Amino acid sequence: SWTMGSFIEHTVAEIKEEVGNRRVLCALSGGVDSSVSAVLVHRAIGDQLTCVFVNHGLLRKGEAEAVQQFFRDGFNINLIYVDASQRFLNKLQGVADPERKRKIIGEEFIRVFEEEAAKVGEIDFLVQGTLYPDVVESGTATAAVIKSHHNVGGLPEDMRLSLIEPLRWLFKDEVRQVGEELGMPTDIVWRQPFPGPGLAVRILGEVSPEKIALLQEADAIVTGEIARAGLDREIWQYFAVLPNLYSVGVMGDERTYAHTVAIRAVHSHDGMTADWAKIPYDVLERISNRIVNEVKGINRVVYDITSKPPATIEWE
Ligand code: XMP
Repeated sequence: SWTMGSFIEHTVAEIKEEVGNRRVLCALSGGVDSSVSAVLVHRAIGDQLTCVFVNHGLLRKGEAEAVQQFFRDGFNINLIYVDASQRFLNKLQGVADPERKRKIIGEEFIRVFEEEAAKVGEIDFLVQGTLYPDVVESGTATAAVIKSHHNVGGLPEDMRLSLIEPLRWLFKDEVRQVGEELGMPTDIVWRQPFPGPGLAVRILGEVSPEKIALLQEADAIVTGEIARAGLDREIWQYFAVLPNLYSVGVMGDERTYAHTVAIRAVHSHDGMTADWAKIPYDVLERISNRIVNEVKGINRVVYDITSKPPATIEWE
């Protein structure tokens, strides 16, 4: 067995040796695995690494800014940040079917990534945040990549890059230890899983800029209060959902007709099964009060008390 310190040393030396003076590309998602991979590879080869972060406009509040600040300003990593929000929104206009939404986002993501990769010039390697369980489960690392990134399609065939998978022998908790050892901030190292298609699978039916904005605000309140209650490492995933449901409410003398927000929070080990989390009532109360008071356009908050199976963690 190794310590995480010697794992880092060993892996960095291995990457240096393999890459030589060639160029490496990394698709950053902002999640734990791709972030730790990027920092490890950067430690090995510095400026020979270029990271690409595609903002599809379906991120959580403050996420795009945080990723840029951390990688570019904090770690001095070459980062290409692409705000493709409008492109994704255009493609998603009028689309309500969950599977079509996923497919559109996955395909557009690959397209944007390819365009950016082409601008970088000659590239020889691609970094992937594949973990040991992914390798075991899918048989091949490449299949795992596709699965973990967007669950759709794959990276372009004609890119023919060799893969660098620095985390392929690690479990999730070991990845977190490596991240901490590398001096990465806790909010990245302990980040909860977030689906590739982002908030699109948490807005039921058609996506619009207004709905995204509402959900981002409500979600920030959920995550903020869960953290404030000290439950953020205990609960596997916790977030807000916009079911696209309007109901009647009352505010002062006014009758309102506005959105409902659902709170989803689950305990899980791998996302395959999950139990709904029994968040204390006073925390739920604070979340509910804050959402209806602070987010204009929401007049009701409900709590999802379904486990997986039969429900899934996400609503779409
Ligand atoms: P479900 O909703 O199927 O989710 O119970 C199980 C876990 O997978 C995450 N999830 C995704 N992750 N791309 C991803 O990278 C996706 O398209 C996707 N869909 C769901 C979900 O957040 C949960 O952790």
